[in-house]
Amino acid sequence: MNSSKPLKMSILGYGGMAGYHFSRLSKLGLVKFVGAFDTDEKRMQAAAKDGMTAYPSAEALFADPQTEAVLIATPNDWHRPYAVAAANAGKHVICEKPVALSCEELDEMTAAAIKNKVVLEVHQNRRWDADYIAVQNIINGGKLGKIYRIDSHVCGANGIPGGWRKLPEQGGGMMLDWGVHLLDQIFDFIKEKPLSLYCKYSHALGFDVDDGFDAQIGFENDLTVNVRVDTNTFTPMPRWIIYGRDGTAVINDWDLNGKIILPVYGKEVEIVGIKAGNGFTKTMAYRPHDSVSESDIPAPSVDGDAFYKNFVAAVRGKEKPIVSNESVRKILRIMELCAISSKENKVIKDELKNL
Ligand SMILES: NC(=O)c1ccc[n+]([C@@H]2O[C@H](COP(=O)([O-])OP(=O)(O)OC[C@H]3O[C@@H](n4cnc5c(N)ncnc54)[C@H](O)[C@@H]3O)[C@@H](O)[C@H]2O)c1
Repeated sequence: MNSSKPLKMSILGYGGMAGYHFSRLSKLGLVKFVGAFDTDEKRMQAAAKDGMTAYPSAEALFADPQTEAVLIATPNDWHRPYAVAAANAGKHVICEKPVALSCEELDEMTAAAIKNKVVLEVHQNRRWDADYIAVQNIINGGKLGKIYRIDSHVCGANGIPGGWRKLPEQGGGMMLDWGVHLLDQIFDFIKEKPLSLYCKYSHALGFDVDDGFDAQIGFENDLTVNVRVDTNTFTPMPRWIIYGRDGTAVINDWDLNGKIILPVYGKEVEIVGIKAGNGFTKTMAYRPHDSVSESDIPAPSVDGDAFYKNFVAAVRGKEKPIVSNESVRKILRIMELCAISSKENKVIKDELKNL
């Protein structure tokens, strides 16, 4: 392979996410998209219009030596069979998240990649979300002091979009769709050991798959993380709340609207009780405005193309894949444990020791 030339890549499943990859990667110039296969004739026409060979089948795509790597962006149940077939055909693989429907499936994919000496890297792109990096910077910066609680919430009001995301057999549901991102972020960043996990799936919209969930993870050092996904919330909710001993940070959205609020120390604050609802409280009375300072969320510098650059470098043997398959397997396992917790209404502890 000539390392100065763009990597020749073909796409399996030319739907919404693949279109996003196509436009971003085409601009980067690291990859040249050469072919595509989609079961939908209209998407095949779109691929041809975008200058790619529209293959009549996945097998025809795998058989063509011009393709060096594939991007799998099909519904989730097709990730395993396509990744294994691609590896066996000697193609490197970018696989969309969730990489598979179970750890067992991922193990088969990883084994095929190792056997055929190809790179299999999962697109856990939200490790480069600016809001998530901002959270890390705020916590590492230390201004909030010891962190004892983190809320990571993604709440929309559009229900579950599309057909396959509503079907269990296709790997639908919000745990596999969004949970995989939010849990990946938490376990990518937090180095404390998890001690307990309780999860409850919601089925408010009546589908066979979960339309959201609440997961509470207790970590060492008295840290609690609450992860929530909801698809039926008709009001904006903060994306993140970070609770520290010395202050609070709220990040409202992906555009980093929000604030860091710190108490002004050295200033005596007389807490005056207030009528609250049908009662009285000092505990929850509002702080006098001049007893806290507020600042904006500092915008981090993020290379949003880091994943793509790393994949191409990994294919060329210059770097290790930045998203390791071990890290991805851990999240798959945690999602399996979330499903058990929700179904059996139980707190998971022992199984977390073997993550
Ligand atoms: N990383 C992210 O930010 C992100 C965002 C959205 C979706 N995704 C992932 O991307 C994948 C695709 O999601 P989407 O939103 O693009 O879905 P989509 O429904 O828009 O696109 C899927 C495409 O795959 C095609 N398809 C279905 N079965 C196929 C098969 N057997 N062979 C070939 N093509 C087939 C469909 O016709 C469709 O065009 C999913 O795994 C999803 O989780 C990731």
